[in-house]
Amino acid sequence: MSSWLHRYCNLVLRSAVLLSVFAFASSHSADNKCSSPLALTCQECLNRGPDCAWCFQKSFLDGAHISKRCDSAAQLMLKGCEEEFIENPGVKVEVNMTLSSSQVTPRDISIQLRPGSEASFIVEVKQLELYPVDLYYLVDVSASMQENLDRLKTVGVNLSHRMKEHSSDFQVGFGSFVDKPVSPYIDVHPSKIDNPCSDYDINCRPAHGFIHVLPITDNMTEFKHVIQQQRISGNMDTPEGGFDAMLQAAVCQKDIGWRPEAKHLLLVMTDQPSHLALDSKLAGIVVPNDGHCHLEDGTYSKSAHMEHPTIGQLAEKLLENSIYSIFAVNQMQYKWYEDLVAFLPGTYLGRLLPKASNLTNLVVDAYKKLLSDVGVEVEVEDSQAHRFWVSVTAFCPNGSTAAGSTKCTNVQPGQKVFFNITVGMRACPEKTDAQKEHEPEVMLVVKPVGFNESTTVRVRQACVCSCGGAGPCHDNPENSLCESGADQGAERILTDSCQDVETGLICSGRGTCVCGACVCDQSNLGTIYGKFCEKDDFSCPNERGLMCGGHGECVSGECSCQRGWTGESCGCPVSPESCMSANGLVCSGQGKCVCGKCVCDHHRRSGRFCEKCATCSNACQSHWSCVDCHLSKGLVADDTQHCNRSCAALVAYVDDITELIRGKYCLYHSGDQCVVRFHVDMASHGPQLRISRHAECVSSYRYFKTFLSVFLLTVVLGLGILAVVRLLLRGKKWSLRGHVIEDSSKNPSYAPTHNEKTITYRRDCLPEHPMEHIHIHKIPLHDMFP
Ligand SMILES: *[C@@H]1O[C@H](CO)[C@@H](O)[C@H](O)[C@H]1NC(C)=O
Ligand SMILES: *[C@@H]1O[C@H](CO)[C@@H](O)[C@H](O)[C@H]1NC(C)=O
Ligand SMILES: *[C@@H]1O[C@H](CO)[C@@H](O)[C@H](O)[C@H]1NC(C)=O
Ligand SMILES: *[C@@H]1O[C@H](CO)[C@@H](O)[C@H](O)[C@H]1NC(C)=O
Ligand SMILES: *[C@@H]1O[C@H](CO)[C@@H](O)[C@H](O)[C@H]1NC(C)=O
Ligand SMILES: *[C@@H]1O[C@H](CO)[C@@H](O)[C@H](O)[C@H]1NC(C)=O
Ligand SMILES: *[C@@H]1O[C@H](CO)[C@@H](O)[C@H](O)[C@H]1NC(C)=O
Ligand SMILES: *[C@@H]1O[C@H](CO)[C@@H](O)[C@H](O)[C@H]1NC(C)=O
Repeated sequence: MSSWLHRYCNLVLRSAVLLSVFAFASSHSADNKCSSPLALTCQECLNRGPDCAWCFQKSFLDGAHISKRCDSAAQLMLKGCEEEFIENPGVKVEVNMTLSSSQVTPRDISIQLRPGSEASFIVEVKQLELYPVDLYYLVDVSASMQENLDRLKTVGVNLSHRMKEHSSDFQVGFGSFVDKPVSPYIDVHPSKIDNPCSDYDINCRPAHGFIHVLPITDNMTEFKHVIQQQRISGNMDTPEGGFDAMLQAAVCQKDIGWRPEAKHLLLVMTDQPSHLALDSKLAGIVVPNDGHCHLEDGTYSKSAHMEHPTIGQLAEKLLENSIYSIFAVNQMQYKWYEDLVAFLPGTYLGRLLPKASNLTNLVVDAYKKLLSDVGVEVEVEDSQAHRFWVSVTAFCPNGSTAAGSTKCTNVQPGQKVFFNITVGMRACPEKTDAQKEHEPEVMLVVKPVGFNESTTVRVRQACVCSCGGAGPCHDNPENSLCESGADQGAERILTDSCQDVETGLICSGRGTCVCGACVCDQSNLGTIYGKFCEKDDFSCPNERGLMCGGHGECVSGECSCQRGWTGESCGCPVSPESCMSANGLVCSGQGKCVCGKCVCDHHRRSGRFCEKCATCSNACQSHWSCVDCHLSKGLVADDTQHCNRSCAALVAYVDDITELIRGKYCLYHSGDQCVVRFHVDMASHGPQLRISRHAECVSSYRYFKTFLSVFLLTVVLGLGILAVVRLLLRGKKWSLRGHVIEDSSKNPSYAPTHNEKTITYRRDCLPEHPMEHIHIHKIPLHDMFP
């Protein structure tokens, strides 16, 4: 191990009681990952990946869709979410150094992970100089092993002496196995059950799954004595029940007497392969091995009831109980075991020579080799294993750091091996897995193979949102924004802050109370927003295509208008300014201003300011004062204000009004039987008057003459009609008719009187009668013409 690495690793381990590792997954397109598809809850958001954070702030992006709360922490802050309201659990690694040990450091690590994130930590493993050693002889005592068994007495004692060099305290134990004592593995003929070897005139023991004979002891006298007593047994088929026996020897810690501080060596001596898990189905045994100890009076009691363990199960139990296995098998079966040991951690395979002649060397070599191999296995609870991944990189004392290698070989006593262990979390526990949800921690065990110590890694899963940094609810009810799951009192406070005092509804029934803040529902009609989701942009009256006329907000279905506006849809200005007609009167004094528009007092009136009145008899009359003012201007030349008051209208003078205006025009009586024709043009900015330059006057004599001739004509016509009626009665029809026609044609000036209104005044104003009374020639006309 290079010195920099040593120093680095030591630094990490000694100084880091709390170290945080922030893992960044692919940082690009964090936005997309967090917001698509839409995340509707904090939890969903966090599950998107380590880049995604959730904003709990009540007023965050008021009215925006709830999924906008899920984004990268940086983006949320840019959008105005305060840091304390951001739920963004980081990856944390906390190393508890209070538990110390001489071999494995640290012993206790707690990490916090969230889906998609990973955390790394370093575990140091140190090999000690001398260990106490427990060696358990697990010997296959089928008939073929007779020779080996005989030799074990001397070899065993010799081995004890040899091992004293490598161990501070060497102890041994002994157990034997054959096979499951059921057909077809053994001969169940009555004569063979008690003595399977009766055919050969040998006194054999009955077959047995596993018998634990000698617990671990340092009394070699006793060991020798026990071996001497051993007799072989017999069975039918070739494979033996080795796995069954190994599992019991591993898990029956107390019975076997494994010392916790010692290295555990399980020496399996056999000349046959072992049965595998499903083999026992042949004997009708279908109960899977439960991996527990079932020793009764030193005999494996479930041998005939439980299947053989699987290789995986065996590997797990060997690792768990810190057992190194040494297979001493004869040449014939070497290949079979070679394939097997790859699946079992901490295993050594050696060839067992006839009469166990090289057993001493084999065990000593195995022990040295096993101790010089330092590797770790990481165990995750089975039910949770699919949600985590683990990668291990060993920093070996020789300086190699091959990634993915979990083992260093040739490690000398006193040397240290460092393991960089990375744990990643794939997903949170499934919701349906209700029981697991209450277990926020998942335990991982980093187990150096064959060591009596291990590192416990407690993984806290950041799968439930805790309301950002706002803290627990009861600490600060004002600020608390905790999601459900908090205690009831806190929850009530939270619900209260979502309740509209006026309506008594929580979030107006259109949202959910999340951490004390309303999160409004999404509607296809539009956006719902507001503190209590009381506002929206669709349920209020429209005005000119704008909700609330663009002058208000829609609150609980009613427009709440801005200042200066009123009405159901805020379409009405409060001030009557828009009703002021040009003369400074509201609606020309002819109506009321309602919602910024004139409502005329009389239905005959119309126009924006009630200034029009087509059928009013005095439509012309209303302008008389104006005409009068203008016509009399010459008399009161200085009084311009007088005219401004009576009419602000534009006034123009025209020569021949009948030619200019074909429609109706008004007459103004200027006195002395004179009339002035004028026309009122309703322009948008106010009335425009065109006044005839010429007054039309009738003298009283002429007027009388006209009246007289009309009277006479009426009388003559009356008499004429009477005569005609009489003639008709007498039969003289045709002559009279011609007379009438002739009579009327003599007076063309009285012909068609199509305009009954003006007929009375339709007298030609004689050119020789200038407008002596009104002095029109004195009026300054210059700029009054249009
Ligand atoms: C460290 O471990 C000890 C023993 O298990 C425990 O009492 C202590 O609370 C732990 N400290 C931390 C910070 O986890
Ligand atoms: C016992 O071991 C010694 C060396 O330690 C060896 O010389 C001797 O032959 C061995 N005896 C047997 C019976 O294996
Ligand atoms: C060792 O075992 C033998 C036989 O079982 C016994 O007689 C002897 O007392 C034991 N020695 C010790 C030290 O326990
Ligand atoms: C593990 O073994 C070591 C060395 O023999 C010993 O000091 C330590 O106490 C043992 N640990 C446990 C937990 O038994
Ligand atoms: C006996 O065992 C030793 C140590 O395992 C080994 O080196 C040797 O080759 C073995 N002898 C034979 C004949 O296999
Ligand atoms: C260091 O040890 C590893 C495994 O223990 C081995 O694979 C590697 O070849 C060794 N490297 C050197 C330079 O000795
Ligand atoms: C441990 O492994 C992780 C992931 O492979 C890596 O990011 C980290 O840098 C490694 N630590 C050391 C000290 O090499
Ligand atoms: C009268 O009205 C005219 C035209 O609108 C304006 O130019 C003039 O100043 C007004 N006179 C007074 C005294 O207001």
